[in-house]
Amino acid sequence: MAHYLLHINGASLHVAAPSDETLLSVLRNRLDLTGAKYGCGEGQCGACTVLIDGVPTRSCLIPVSAVGGAKIVTIEGLGQDGQLTPVQQAFVEEGALQCGYCTSGMVLRATALLRETPQPGHEQIVHAMDGNLCRCGTYPRIVAAVQLAARLQARAVPPEGARR
Ligand code: FES
Ligand code: FES
Repeated sequence: MAHYLLHINGASLHVAAPSDETLLSVLRNRLDLTGAKYGCGEGQCGACTVLIDGVPTRSCLIPVSAVGGAKIVTIEGLGQDGQLTPVQQAFVEEGALQCGYCTSGMVLRATALLRETPQPGHEQIVHAMDGNLCRCGTYPRIVAAVQLAARLQARAVPPEGARR
C-alpha cells in the first residue's frame, strides 16, 4: 500500500492504495465517488471519464500513482451550490439519457469540449463525443444537449462590452 494526496473536486484527499490500482477503482471503492462508471475497463467506452487538468481521461486505464499533483474533476464536482452547470442542465432538458450509465462520462466530455470550443458545429460535437459509447443509443439527444449547453453557456456569459 502506498499513500497518495489527490486533488479532487477542489479538495485534497489522502488515500492509501496499491500503486497499480486504477484511479477509477480508487474513486469508486475508496473515496465513494461513484459517478464515474466501470463499463469496459479497457479504455473503450468512456463511462469512466473524469477530467484530469481539464483533459477528459479514462480513469479505468490510469493508475492512481500517475495522478498525484493533478487536478481531478469528477461528475460530483461539476455543479456548485446545488446549481447544475449548463451541460448538466441541457442533458436534463433534452432528456439525453436513458439508463444513465454513460451520462457522467458524456457530461464531462461535453464540458471539456465547450471549454475549448464554446460554439461547436454539429460535426465537431459528433467527433468530440465519438469515443464515448451509449448502449441506449441516445446519441441524437446527446448532440442536441451539447448544442443546447452551448447556447445556455453563451447566455450565462455577459457580452464583452458588458463585462467590467
Ligand atoms: S470503463 Fe473506462 S473506458 Fe470503459
Ligand atoms: S443512457 Fe444508457 S448507456 Fe447511455
